[in-house]
Amino acid sequence: MDKLTIVRPDDWHLHVRTGAVLHAVIAATAQQFARAIIMPNLKPPVTSVEQALSYREEILSVLPAGSDFQPLMTLYLTGLTSVNDVKQVAASEHIHAFKLYPAGATTNSDSGVSNIEAAYPVFEAMEKHDVPLLVHGEVTDEKYDIFDREKIFIDSQLQAIVNRFPNLRIVMEHVTTEEAVQFVASAADKIAATITPQHLLYNRNAMLAGGIRPHFYCLPILKREQHRQALVAAATSGSPKFFLGTDSAPHLTHLKEHSCGCAGCFNAPAALSLYAEAFDQVGKLDKLEGFASFFGADFYGLPRNQGHVTLAKTDWQVPEVFHLANETITPLRAGETLHWQLL
Ligand code: NCD
Ligand code: ZN
Ligand code: ZN
Repeated sequence: MDKLTIVRPDDWHLHVRTGAVLHAVIAATAQQFARAIIMPNLKPPVTSVEQALSYREEILSVLPAGSDFQPLMTLYLTGLTSVNDVKQVAASEHIHAFKLYPAGATTNSDSGVSNIEAAYPVFEAMEKHDVPLLVHGEVTDEKYDIFDREKIFIDSQLQAIVNRFPNLRIVMEHVTTEEAVQFVASAADKIAATITPQHLLYNRNAMLAGGIRPHFYCLPILKREQHRQALVAAATSGSPKFFLGTDSAPHLTHLKEHSCGCAGCFNAPAALSLYAEAFDQVGKLDKLEGFASFFGADFYGLPRNQGHVTLAKTDWQVPEVFHLANETITPLRAGETLHWQLL
């Protein structure tokens, strides 16, 4: 197969930031995807409907001319999120979910939830009003090894939430382990997961063997090969529980290439090509359309997109950097040749 036409895809997990960074990165996503779930971990976080609507306006105002890209907004759950906030989100046509960051788990998660059980009344309202809960699924306690934090989160927190709120729709974001795949696959159909291109293509050697490569550093951190293979199997299985979420997370180049580098891979410029590469490697390109274009929309109760995109087996080069006025952002696979190109 050297050409693949699929229904226009969506990105169900995306960071685009604000201001100059937003300006520099938005076109990359808008060229490939019809819609994206926009993560609310700004500084300060997007915690109210008003903030989310004005952030949406900002995104719409920087879209390339003629783009019909739709940002699907989310609210950042904090200890102060109320049942009334849930009602407002349920009533809003532009806000689609709440995002739970355990406090301290990842980039800009300081305002996140430190006592998850204290948020149960809010989860109960989300269950009642059918508002999805998106979860960064890692424990934050320093005593836990960074490679174990996802598995421990499932056992110590997520399983209890699922048991207690059986009708709550939950997306376990950016799953990275065999245990997470098994958890989601065996849970009820209210439970789904997004998978990033870097976790499908790379294990931790890509980041750590033969030199430390900060552009591969994201959270949850890349794991062993056995986990990568479990993720590929899930993504290419045809199960509607697993769908595309790039977790593209731009940071300035100098803050990635730093003695304490930021977590997040800016994969948006090559996102669809990278997914095609991962599916092609296992001979499952025929499963890309469901993963990229159908299952996420179905889960969120949104219509599938009209129109199509075509990927061709043609070499192209990922840009070395994206420019801001005086800074750069380095994409994943910067300067490298990829073999699938979006026409
Ligand atoms: C994300 C970011 O930079 O906002 N970073 C990351 O490593 N994935 C936050 C997140 O999704 O956890
Ligand atoms: Zn996250
Ligand atoms: Zn993310």
